[in-house]
Amino acid sequence: MCGIFGYVGTKNGVTLALEGLRRIEYRGYDSAGIGVFEKNKLHCYRAVGKLENLEKVVQGKSSTTVIAHTRWATHGTVTIENAHPIMDSSKAVAVIHNGIIENFQELRAELEREGVVFSTQTDTEVIAQLIAKCYEGDLLKAVQVAVATLKGAYAIAVLHKDHPDMCVVACLNTPLVIGVGIGENFVASDPNAIIHHTREVIYVNDGEVAKITADKVELFDSAFVKIPHKIETLLHNVEDFSKGAYEHYTMKEIHEQVQSTKNAMYARFFEDYGTVVLEDLHLKPDELLAVERIVIVACGTSLHAGMVASYLIEELAGIPTEVEISSEFRYKNPIVQKGTLAIAISQSGETADTIAAVRELKAKGAYIVGLCNVVGSTLAREASSCLFLRAGPEIGVCSTKAFTSQLVVLSLFALMMARLRYMSKVDGQKFLKDIAEIPEKIALVLEKSHQIEAIAKKYAAYENFFFIGRRYMYPSSLEAALKLKEIAYVNANGYAAGELKHGPIALISETCPTFALCADALTYDKVLSNVMEAKARHSKTIAVVYEGTKGIKSIANEVIEIPNTRDELAPILVAVVCQLFAYYVARLRGAEIDQPKNLAKSVTVE
Ligand code: M6R
Repeated sequence: MCGIFGYVGTKNGVTLALEGLRRIEYRGYDSAGIGVFEKNKLHCYRAVGKLENLEKVVQGKSSTTVIAHTRWATHGTVTIENAHPIMDSSKAVAVIHNGIIENFQELRAELEREGVVFSTQTDTEVIAQLIAKCYEGDLLKAVQVAVATLKGAYAIAVLHKDHPDMCVVACLNTPLVIGVGIGENFVASDPNAIIHHTREVIYVNDGEVAKITADKVELFDSAFVKIPHKIETLLHNVEDFSKGAYEHYTMKEIHEQVQSTKNAMYARFFEDYGTVVLEDLHLKPDELLAVERIVIVACGTSLHAGMVASYLIEELAGIPTEVEISSEFRYKNPIVQKGTLAIAISQSGETADTIAAVRELKAKGAYIVGLCNVVGSTLAREASSCLFLRAGPEIGVCSTKAFTSQLVVLSLFALMMARLRYMSKVDGQKFLKDIAEIPEKIALVLEKSHQIEAIAKKYAAYENFFFIGRRYMYPSSLEAALKLKEIAYVNANGYAAGELKHGPIALISETCPTFALCADALTYDKVLSNVMEAKARHSKTIAVVYEGTKGIKSIANEVIEIPNTRDELAPILVAVVCQLFAYYVARLRGAEIDQPKNLAKSVTVE
């Protein structure tokens, strides 16, 4: 949440900052701002709303030192005053911040007792006022002393009016990367913001403070001692950030799933042998055989992928698998026995709760397998092994292609564990044949876009939906409901179909359509009974079924067929149907699809 960009060099940093912020705007888009030096004087320009509003404000401006920010509001409403950079009362210090300062109230009260007058509602202003208070001519020292009093999470970049050629940065529990150039240096919350300028980077560790000038980067630890820094090279490609011919990134990404699922499975299995080879998994067969229990931690859509995986791993490999919501798990005292393997799933690799859960699992000695889309992210660096999704940048805040790629990689993982145990070569071969067919089956689902759009038109005005399913279709129903809530702002409940009669059925009526996800052969008859129950209460019913399912057309109001596949892989195809439905409903309702209100792509605060 919140994107940070900084530049010290000889070029026009304002242009570079706008371009950099554009690449990380998905981190937050409540407001944006930039701190510059004009004729050696420190100025801050800010605008509420999308980046384009800031672009208008800073047109024609130029500065060789800048800090820039795109905000996802935590403390303080979305106003110009609360937009970053935040300055201290004397306007000497400008700060941009990603994170939350947990002790800001006591620090603010203390400063107010000393006579400091605050002008924003933000926790960030405490940082700016503290730095100003600690400043005695040395900005680095002032930042070091100030951050030592902060509790919580922060990545900050600071400018001071007396130092037009310098930026000081610091972080704790929040990612920050310095890009090292020739005669210029960068800072960002995400390597994506700077990779097209330099591939040489320094990841700032917790508690460290860095002083950045055009030709020097100096790093200091929390004891203020200068430390050597390790320059790493970003190896991933400069990604395509364009929308192409699509109206929205979300639709582009839905369509990319034919290719992204292919990428996720590319060179990861041998169909002839019915086996999977995950080269980025640094565990030997005997270590994999020693796994007795698996714990999966994740949030949101990644959590739903984890839920599908728990069914898959238990069913195929017979290994007990639990799925935990990261934000709950981190405050438990988890039991991590010998033989426990942890899987952390996160598209961004930056979700604060998942990272905290990973750290707790590591502290308890678990081996962590990360499942992540962003190379160089915190999860990718902290996991013992990281399996990359290779989905390409997912810009739409609503996760689509990352979900289906997660399901592909997790299916391969489950199959690998199964083959190491009881699954025969023939069964392995059959499974892999089915996985290999998934991309072309996604293409067939996409061909149903017009039918799904027509159904969306009929139902776009409803304010409540139920998505129900059993077994693999249960997590699918949670994911489908999340999509509709997130981009169409329509209330939707994902429910285990068997649980409906234990309470929620009271909500079912003609005003609440029921989306029944029936692509699970084992439980089909049972879900059909639940469809009948919903119908008996005048709910309109939309059924997603395998092609050729008999009798359903006379029962459900609408039927969407998906190509036949095995139940374990059906969540991938059903996800595409539900993504399209949510997209079309959102578009018909005029919702902001790529950047839904109140959300951000990387949830780097608790
Ligand atoms: O980057 P992560 O996979 O860790 O993100 C987790 C959730 O924030 C994310 O999946 C969120 O639920 C999506 N916006 C849903 O579409």
